Amino acid sequence: MNLLTHLQRLFHGAVEGIVADPARYAAMVKPAQDARFGDYQANCAMSLAKQLRQKPRDVAERLAASLDLSGMLEKPEVAGPGFINLRLRTDWLAAQLQRMAAADRLAIEPVQPPRTYVIDYSSPNVAKPMHVGHLRSTIIGDALARLLRFLGHKVIADNHLGDWGTQFGMLLYGYKHHRDEEALRSDPVREMVRLYLLVRREIDPAEKVEEEPGNAKDYSEADLTRSREALAAVRSETAKLHAGDEENLALWRQFMPWCYAEIEAIYRRLDVHFDHTFGESFYQPMLVGLVDDLLARGIARPSEGAIAVFVEGEETPTLVRYRNGAYTYTTTDLATIRYRMEQWHPDASLYVVGTPQEMHFRRLFGIARRWGYDTIELEHIKFGSVLERLPNGKTEMFRTRAGRVVELGALLDEAVVRAAQQYEQTRADRLERGEEVPQLSQQEEQQIAEVVGLGAVKYADLCQNRTSDYVFDWDKMLAMDGNTATYMQYAYVRNRGIFRRGNVDPAALRSDPPRPILDTPHERALAVQLLRFHEALDAAVADYKPNLITAYLWDLSKAYSGFFDNCPVLKAPTPELRQSRLLLCDLTARVIQRGLDLLGIRTVERM
Ligand code: ARG
Repeated sequence: MNLLTHLQRLFHGAVEGIVADPARYAAMVKPAQDARFGDYQANCAMSLAKQLRQKPRDVAERLAASLDLSGMLEKPEVAGPGFINLRLRTDWLAAQLQRMAAADRLAIEPVQPPRTYVIDYSSPNVAKPMHVGHLRSTIIGDALARLLRFLGHKVIADNHLGDWGTQFGMLLYGYKHHRDEEALRSDPVREMVRLYLLVRREIDPAEKVEEEPGNAKDYSEADLTRSREALAAVRSETAKLHAGDEENLALWRQFMPWCYAEIEAIYRRLDVHFDHTFGESFYQPMLVGLVDDLLARGIARPSEGAIAVFVEGEETPTLVRYRNGAYTYTTTDLATIRYRMEQWHPDASLYVVGTPQEMHFRRLFGIARRWGYDTIELEHIKFGSVLERLPNGKTEMFRTRAGRVVELGALLDEAVVRAAQQYEQTRADRLERGEEVPQLSQQEEQQIAEVVGLGAVKYADLCQNRTSDYVFDWDKMLAMDGNTATYMQYAYVRNRGIFRRGNVDPAALRSDPPRPILDTPHERALAVQLLRFHEALDAAVADYKPNLITAYLWDLSKAYSGFFDNCPVLKAPTPELRQSRLLLCDLTARVIQRGLDLLGIRTVERM
């Protein structure tokens, strides 16, 4: 049960007869800032009083008296100018926890009615190695897909690969001029990456000078000429491919699986899955008809040889066909919208793509609405950049360009190596302190390093407010204390350790859970926090913000520490209290595990 929505519903009922817009006032119920004043607080009496021209305190008193407490709330208290403080009844909390313990999905019922979401995420431009910049879309998109599915929605995960762009011109050119037959036979995937990087370096000077003529001074005349020739050749290979040239098409069909294999290995490792991987190429046959349709409906019109859509308030039009006849990123995206609507009839379509494409999506959505897709929720789930701290203290983007490619595969390898080293170190420290350390096989240790290393990278990304940039920092993300995956994973393991040490089977606690005893403030605070899980998940969906889940987990772990430091579990004074506290521990472990799972992060049982 989402506690907050439930309380808001009670307030809705209380103000319904008094005002015309009860929802507005119901929304003014919020979690309390300070637990001393209660668990939640309603601030609606003040605005209500203004509208009714009455004294706020009187309105608050009357509201509090008329509120249906539904066995859930203590008698509300009115404070200050008219705040209504709400305190959950402890016996009600205990009954809810008991129910949560016995339920499969922690008593989170699937939503009614479910919605259908298309999530467009990861969507890299294939043919170049994936780099750290692709991480965010992949991880955030995967977390949203997991979360929405868990809540009961229907999710269609579509990886909108960039499989038709200039990068294939680069590969075609590289293949024709620089291929290494031997390497191609033995490891075509690596050979593709090598060719891409080689051509990237070759055309880089010409592109830099096109962007900014002043850059010419960085290169010799001869180098620049060679680079320009290569760039022109790359463009002509791309144009030939798009025009349906037999040879280039055949090569493209040959390259695609190689390019995709490189990416797929990363998805497998990250445990990220898609229902579809229709790339941009899939939509190419639809573009001619699409532009005709836009013209026929008067949405697009010819403009200086191109075909453009003019939108009021936008200074420049959006092109759907260039003068040279080529179609644009927007055209393909419009075809994609139509296809998805016809195939899946989604209620919402989410595009998990970096902030730099904000204008593209704003314009795209505007055109789509004019084109008739005006009831679907189209949403750009934008995110900031991953930065790197330089030795001089300044920060800079992780780069894709020549010279400084941070390949994602290598980055994930490093995460695992670092996690393994840290694990060895912690183990040695624990042994030195005379603590018990489990005997693990090499395979188990490797598994731990994978889970901890990849978890650290994902969590570090997801715990940011997604619209901000963040600095990639190994030490911070692998820290054992603080808001990190490593901390959560250890908290989970320590929690499981209690059950091993006490020889308690958690399954028994779940099949026949005791009614928990919540007599100390620590036990009660933990209980409230556990019950707020559903509220956190709904909040994360409302803004499409996975960091609201990590923030919740962090608060939960603080409530758990407070409980654990003050309430002996295995050595509890009575058997009833021991059972009750074990139940709280088990629920905490389950919520942590489920919360991490929704972020795509795994746990291990011991380490
Ligand atoms: N391939 C694009 C890029 O790497 C992202 C595609 C996002 N999805 C979309 N439907 N436009 O920038």
